Amino acid sequence: MALRHFLTLGDLSTEELNQIIQRALQLKRMQHQNEVYQPFVGKVMGMIFEKSSTRTRVSFEAGMSQFGGSAIFLSSRDTQLGRGEPIEDSARVISSMLDIVMIRTFGHDIVERFAQHSTVPVINALTDDHHPCQLLADVQTYVEHRGPIAGKTVAWIGDGNNMCNSYIEAAHMWGFKLKIASPQGYEPQAQFVTPFSHCVELVDSAEAAAQDADLIVTDVWASMGQEQEQKIREKAFANYQVNESLMALAHPDCLFMHCLPAHRGEEISENMLDHKNAVVWDEAENRLHAQKALVEFLINENLKSA
Ligand code: CP
Ligand code: NVA
Repeated sequence: MALRHFLTLGDLSTEELNQIIQRALQLKRMQHQNEVYQPFVGKVMGMIFEKSSTRTRVSFEAGMSQFGGSAIFLSSRDTQLGRGEPIEDSARVISSMLDIVMIRTFGHDIVERFAQHSTVPVINALTDDHHPCQLLADVQTYVEHRGPIAGKTVAWIGDGNNMCNSYIEAAHMWGFKLKIASPQGYEPQAQFVTPFSHCVELVDSAEAAAQDADLIVTDVWASMGQEQEQKIREKAFANYQVNESLMALAHPDCLFMHCLPAHRGEEISENMLDHKNAVVWDEAENRLHAQKALVEFLINENLKSA
Protein backbone atom coordinates (compact mmCIF):
# COMPACT_ATOMS: atom_id res chain seq x y z
CA MET A 1 0.00 0.00 0.00
CA ALA A 2 1.29 3.49 -0.88
CA LEU A 3 2.49 5.84 1.83
CA ARG A 4 -0.33 8.18 2.89
CA HIS A 5 0.14 11.92 3.32
CA PHE A 6 -2.27 14.74 4.22
CA LEU A 7 -1.43 17.70 1.99
CA THR A 8 -5.00 18.58 1.09
CA LEU A 9 -8.37 17.19 2.24
CA GLY A 10 -8.64 15.20 -0.99
CA ASP A 11 -5.77 12.96 0.13
CA LEU A 12 -8.37 11.16 2.25
CA SER A 13 -11.76 9.82 1.21
CA THR A 14 -14.96 11.27 2.66
CA GLU A 15 -15.35 8.05 4.65
CA GLU A 16 -11.84 8.41 6.11
CA LEU A 17 -12.42 12.09 6.92
CA ASN A 18 -15.62 11.22 8.77
CA GLN A 19 -13.83 8.41 10.57
CA ILE A 20 -11.23 10.98 11.74
CA ILE A 21 -13.95 13.39 12.92
CA GLN A 22 -15.67 10.64 14.94
CA ARG A 23 -12.34 9.52 16.38
CA ALA A 24 -11.49 13.14 17.27
CA LEU A 25 -14.73 13.40 19.25
CA GLN A 26 -13.84 10.18 21.06
CA LEU A 27 -10.24 11.26 21.78
CA LYS A 28 -11.61 14.54 23.16
CA ARG A 29 -13.89 12.68 25.59
CA MET A 30 -10.97 10.47 26.65
CA GLN A 31 -8.69 13.48 27.18
CA HIS A 32 -11.37 15.31 29.20
CA GLN A 33 -11.72 12.23 31.42
CA ASN A 34 -7.94 12.20 31.99
CA GLU A 35 -7.71 8.80 30.34
CA VAL A 36 -4.10 7.95 29.52
CA TYR A 37 -3.85 6.60 25.97
CA GLN A 38 -0.30 6.09 24.72
CA PRO A 39 -0.23 4.06 21.51
CA PHE A 40 2.87 5.82 20.17
CA VAL A 41 5.52 5.52 22.87
CA GLY A 42 8.90 6.18 21.25
CA LYS A 43 7.38 7.67 18.07
CA VAL A 44 8.72 11.08 17.08
CA MET A 45 7.13 13.82 14.99
CA GLY A 46 9.16 16.47 13.16
CA MET A 47 7.49 19.91 13.11
CA ILE A 48 8.96 22.16 10.41
CA PHE A 49 7.89 25.79 10.74
CA GLU A 50 8.80 28.43 8.16
CA LYS A 51 5.95 30.66 9.41
CA SER A 52 4.77 31.58 12.91
CA SER A 53 2.22 29.54 14.87
CA THR A 54 0.57 29.20 18.27
CA ARG A 55 -2.29 26.70 17.84
CA THR A 56 -0.64 24.42 15.32
CA ARG A 57 2.58 24.03 17.25
CA VAL A 58 0.93 23.57 20.64
CA SER A 59 -1.68 21.11 19.35
CA PHE A 60 0.74 18.84 17.47
CA GLU A 61 3.35 18.92 20.23
CA ALA A 62 0.84 18.30 23.03
CA GLY A 63 -0.88 15.61 20.96
CA MET A 64 2.35 13.65 20.46
CA SER A 65 3.17 13.90 24.18
CA GLN A 66 -0.32 12.69 25.12
CA PHE A 67 0.16 9.73 22.75
CA GLY A 68 3.36 8.81 24.62
CA GLY A 69 5.62 10.07 21.83
CA SER A 70 7.46 13.32 21.31
CA ALA A 71 7.92 16.11 18.81
CA ILE A 72 10.90 18.11 17.57
CA PHE A 73 10.37 21.77 16.66
CA LEU A 74 12.40 22.64 13.56
CA SER A 75 12.47 26.29 12.60
CA SER A 76 13.91 27.29 9.26
CA ARG A 77 15.73 30.03 11.15
CA ASP A 78 18.05 27.57 12.86
CA THR A 79 18.13 24.50 10.63
CA GLN A 80 19.94 24.06 7.32
CA LEU A 81 16.55 24.48 5.58
CA GLY A 82 16.93 28.22 6.13
CA ARG A 83 20.42 28.14 4.60
CA GLY A 84 19.32 26.61 1.34
CA GLU A 85 19.69 22.83 1.84
CA PRO A 86 17.39 21.39 -0.84
CA ILE A 87 13.98 20.33 0.41
CA GLU A 88 14.44 16.92 -1.26
CA ASP A 89 17.68 16.23 0.69
CA SER A 90 16.09 17.49 3.92
CA ALA A 91 13.10 15.19 3.37
CA ARG A 92 15.30 12.11 2.92
CA VAL A 93 17.35 12.86 6.02
CA ILE A 94 14.57 14.02 8.37
CA SER A 95 12.17 11.22 7.43
CA SER A 96 14.89 8.58 7.94
CA MET A 97 14.94 9.45 11.66
CA LEU A 98 11.29 10.25 12.40
CA ASP A 99 7.87 8.61 12.21
CA ILE A 100 5.77 11.50 10.90
CA VAL A 101 6.43 15.09 9.79
CA MET A 102 4.29 18.23 9.70
CA ILE A 103 5.28 21.29 7.68
CA ARG A 104 4.10 24.89 7.74
CA THR A 105 5.57 26.83 4.86
CA PHE A 106 4.95 29.25 1.99
CA GLY A 107 4.69 27.55 -1.42
CA HIS A 108 2.47 24.47 -1.56
CA ASP A 109 5.05 22.86 -3.86
CA ILE A 110 7.40 22.67 -0.86
CA VAL A 111 5.16 20.23 1.05
CA GLU A 112 4.57 18.28 -2.18
CA ARG A 113 8.31 17.96 -2.87
CA PHE A 114 9.00 17.04 0.76
CA ALA A 115 6.29 14.36 0.62
CA GLN A 116 7.66 12.94 -2.64
CA HIS A 117 11.02 12.32 -0.96
CA SER A 118 9.78 11.36 2.50
CA THR A 119 9.61 7.79 3.77
CA VAL A 120 7.07 8.74 6.47
CA PRO A 121 3.65 10.47 6.35
CA VAL A 122 3.71 14.23 5.80
CA ILE A 123 1.02 16.62 7.07
CA ASN A 124 0.40 20.07 5.60
CA ALA A 125 0.18 22.39 8.61
CA LEU A 126 -0.56 25.42 6.34
CA THR A 127 0.79 26.60 3.04
CA ASP A 128 -0.05 29.71 1.02
CA ASP A 129 -2.71 27.58 -0.73
CA HIS A 130 -4.27 25.27 1.88
CA HIS A 131 -4.87 24.72 5.60
CA PRO A 132 -6.54 21.29 5.75
CA CYS A 133 -5.83 20.60 9.46
CA GLN A 134 -7.95 23.62 10.37
CA LEU A 135 -10.85 22.14 8.40
CA LEU A 136 -10.72 18.92 10.43
CA ALA A 137 -11.12 21.01 13.59
CA ASP A 138 -13.83 23.21 12.05
CA VAL A 139 -15.92 20.26 10.88
CA GLN A 140 -15.46 18.51 14.23
CA THR A 141 -16.70 21.69 15.93
CA TYR A 142 -19.72 21.96 13.65
CA VAL A 143 -20.59 18.30 14.21
CA GLU A 144 -20.33 18.55 17.99
CA HIS A 145 -22.57 21.64 18.13
CA ARG A 146 -25.03 21.00 15.33
CA GLY A 147 -24.63 17.46 13.90
CA PRO A 148 -23.65 16.54 10.32
CA ILE A 149 -22.53 19.40 8.05
CA ALA A 150 -23.65 17.67 4.85
CA GLY A 151 -26.44 19.61 3.16
CA LYS A 152 -25.79 22.80 5.17
CA THR A 153 -24.90 26.25 3.81
CA VAL A 154 -21.59 27.79 4.82
CA ALA A 155 -20.67 31.43 4.17
CA TRP A 156 -17.04 32.37 3.65
CA ILE A 157 -16.65 36.13 4.12
CA GLY A 158 -13.34 37.74 3.21
CA ASP A 159 -10.09 36.84 1.53
CA GLY A 160 -9.93 34.07 -1.06
CA ASN A 161 -6.92 32.66 0.80
CA ASN A 162 -5.57 29.30 2.01
CA MET A 163 -8.47 28.83 4.46
CA CYS A 164 -11.00 29.68 1.77
CA ASN A 165 -9.40 27.16 -0.60
CA SER A 166 -9.61 24.44 2.04
CA TYR A 167 -13.27 25.37 2.68
CA ILE A 168 -13.92 24.94 -1.05
CA GLU A 169 -12.43 21.45 -0.97
CA ALA A 170 -14.29 20.70 2.27
CA ALA A 171 -17.60 21.61 0.61
CA HIS A 172 -16.95 18.88 -1.95
CA MET A 173 -15.65 16.28 0.54
CA TRP A 174 -18.43 16.77 3.12
CA GLY A 175 -21.25 17.75 0.78
CA PHE A 176 -22.16 21.26 1.91
CA LYS A 177 -22.85 24.40 -0.09
CA LEU A 178 -20.27 27.20 0.15
CA LYS A 179 -21.14 30.83 -0.58
CA ILE A 180 -18.06 33.01 -0.93
CA ALA A 181 -18.08 36.81 -0.60
CA SER A 182 -14.71 38.41 -1.34
CA PRO A 183 -13.88 41.94 -2.46
CA GLN A 184 -13.12 42.32 -6.13
CA GLY A 185 -9.56 41.20 -6.82
CA TYR A 186 -9.41 39.05 -3.67
CA GLU A 187 -11.60 36.14 -4.81
CA PRO A 188 -10.14 32.62 -4.60
CA GLN A 189 -8.09 31.71 -7.69
CA ALA A 190 -9.96 29.89 -10.46
CA GLN A 191 -7.69 26.82 -10.14
CA PHE A 192 -9.11 26.21 -6.64
CA VAL A 193 -12.75 26.99 -7.50
CA THR A 194 -13.25 25.41 -10.94
CA PRO A 195 -12.86 21.74 -9.92
CA PHE A 196 -15.47 22.26 -7.18
CA SER A 197 -17.82 24.73 -8.87
CA HIS A 198 -20.73 22.31 -8.30
CA CYS A 199 -20.74 23.20 -4.57
CA VAL A 200 -19.42 26.77 -4.60
CA GLU A 201 -21.19 30.05 -5.34
CA LEU A 202 -19.36 33.39 -5.55
CA VAL A 203 -21.67 36.17 -4.39
CA ASP A 204 -21.11 39.92 -4.52
CA SER A 205 -21.62 41.00 -0.90
CA ALA A 206 -21.08 39.77 2.63
CA GLU A 207 -24.84 40.15 3.21
CA ALA A 208 -25.69 37.89 0.25
CA ALA A 209 -23.38 35.19 1.62
CA ALA A 210 -24.68 35.47 5.18
CA GLN A 211 -28.35 35.20 4.20
CA ASP A 212 -29.75 31.98 5.76
CA ALA A 213 -26.26 30.54 6.37
CA ASP A 214 -25.76 27.71 8.89
CA LEU A 215 -22.13 28.64 9.49
CA ILE A 216 -20.28 31.91 8.90
CA VAL A 217 -16.50 31.80 8.68
CA THR A 218 -13.88 34.47 8.17
CA ASP A 219 -10.14 34.96 8.48
CA VAL A 220 -7.61 37.79 8.62
CA TRP A 221 -7.50 40.24 5.72
CA ALA A 222 -3.73 39.93 5.33
CA SER A 223 -2.24 36.47 5.78
CA MET A 224 1.29 35.63 6.85
CA GLY A 225 3.61 36.86 4.12
CA GLN A 226 1.21 39.67 3.09
CA GLU A 227 1.99 42.06 5.95
CA GLN A 228 3.11 44.82 3.57
CA GLU A 229 -0.39 44.80 1.97
CA GLN A 230 -2.17 45.43 5.30
CA LYS A 231 -3.15 49.06 4.64
CA ILE A 232 -4.39 48.53 1.09
CA ARG A 233 -6.33 45.45 2.20
CA GLU A 234 -8.00 47.34 5.07
CA LYS A 235 -9.56 49.61 2.46
CA ALA A 236 -10.54 46.82 0.08
CA PHE A 237 -12.14 44.68 2.82
CA ALA A 238 -13.96 47.48 4.70
CA ASN A 239 -17.42 46.08 3.78
CA TYR A 240 -16.49 42.51 4.65
CA GLN A 241 -16.51 42.59 8.45
CA VAL A 242 -18.36 39.82 10.27
CA ASN A 243 -20.40 41.50 13.01
CA GLU A 244 -23.66 41.15 14.91
CA SER A 245 -25.79 42.64 12.11
CA LEU A 246 -24.35 40.22 9.56
CA MET A 247 -25.04 37.30 11.91
CA ALA A 248 -28.64 38.52 12.20
CA LEU A 249 -29.16 37.76 8.48
CA ALA A 250 -28.19 34.13 8.93
CA HIS A 251 -30.18 31.17 10.21
CA PRO A 252 -30.90 31.67 13.96
CA ASP A 253 -28.73 28.62 14.75
CA CYS A 254 -25.87 29.85 12.55
CA LEU A 255 -22.46 29.25 14.13
CA PHE A 256 -19.50 31.58 13.77
CA MET A 257 -15.93 30.30 13.33
CA HIS A 258 -12.52 31.88 12.82
CA CYS A 259 -9.29 29.90 12.66
CA LEU A 260 -7.54 32.59 14.77
CA PRO A 261 -5.54 34.68 15.36
CA ALA A 262 -8.27 37.32 14.90
CA HIS A 263 -8.01 41.07 14.45
CA ARG A 264 -10.86 42.70 16.37
CA GLY A 265 -12.10 45.81 14.58
CA GLU A 266 -10.99 44.47 11.18
CA GLU A 267 -12.45 41.18 9.86
CA ILE A 268 -14.60 40.88 13.01
CA SER A 269 -16.32 43.43 15.24
CA GLU A 270 -14.90 44.03 18.73
CA ASN A 271 -17.34 41.59 20.42
CA MET A 272 -17.79 38.97 17.70
CA LEU A 273 -15.73 36.30 19.49
CA ASP A 274 -18.16 36.63 22.42
CA HIS A 275 -21.29 36.29 20.24
CA LYS A 276 -23.64 33.61 21.58
CA ASN A 277 -23.16 31.55 18.41
CA ALA A 278 -19.37 31.93 18.23
CA VAL A 279 -17.56 28.64 18.82
CA VAL A 280 -14.00 29.80 18.21
CA TRP A 281 -12.52 28.50 21.49
CA ASP A 282 -13.91 25.02 20.92
CA GLU A 283 -12.68 25.29 17.35
CA ALA A 284 -9.16 26.12 18.58
CA GLU A 285 -9.16 23.30 21.16
CA ASN A 286 -10.37 20.86 18.55
CA ARG A 287 -7.13 21.35 16.62
CA LEU A 288 -5.62 19.10 19.30
CA HIS A 289 -8.20 16.33 19.09
CA ALA A 290 -8.68 16.38 15.31
CA GLN A 291 -4.94 16.28 14.65
CA LYS A 292 -4.45 13.46 17.16
CA ALA A 293 -7.03 11.50 15.18
CA LEU A 294 -5.20 12.38 11.96
CA VAL A 295 -1.77 11.41 13.32
CA GLU A 296 -3.14 8.13 14.65
CA PHE A 297 -4.71 7.37 11.27
CA LEU A 298 -1.55 8.17 9.27
CA ILE A 299 0.89 6.35 11.57
CA ASN A 300 -1.34 3.26 11.65
CA GLU A 301 -1.78 3.31 7.85
CA ASN A 302 2.00 3.51 7.49
CA LEU A 303 2.53 0.61 9.90
CA LYS A 304 -0.01 -1.46 7.91
CA SER A 305 1.86 -0.80 4.68
CA ALA A 306 5.32 -1.55 6.14
N1 CP B 1 -5.27 28.64 13.18
C1 CP B 1 -3.95 28.44 13.21
O1 CP B 1 -3.40 27.68 12.40
O2 CP B 1 -3.30 29.08 14.20
P1 CP B 1 -1.72 29.23 14.39
O3 CP B 1 -1.22 30.10 13.26
O4 CP B 1 -1.56 29.86 15.73
O5 CP B 1 -1.09 27.86 14.32
N1 NVA C 1 -4.84 32.83 6.38
C1 NVA C 1 -4.05 32.87 7.59
C2 NVA C 1 -4.35 31.68 8.46
C3 NVA C 1 -3.57 31.65 9.75
C4 NVA C 1 -3.86 30.44 10.57
C5 NVA C 1 -2.56 32.91 7.21
O1 NVA C 1 -2.16 32.19 6.30
O2 NVA C 1 -1.83 33.70 7.82
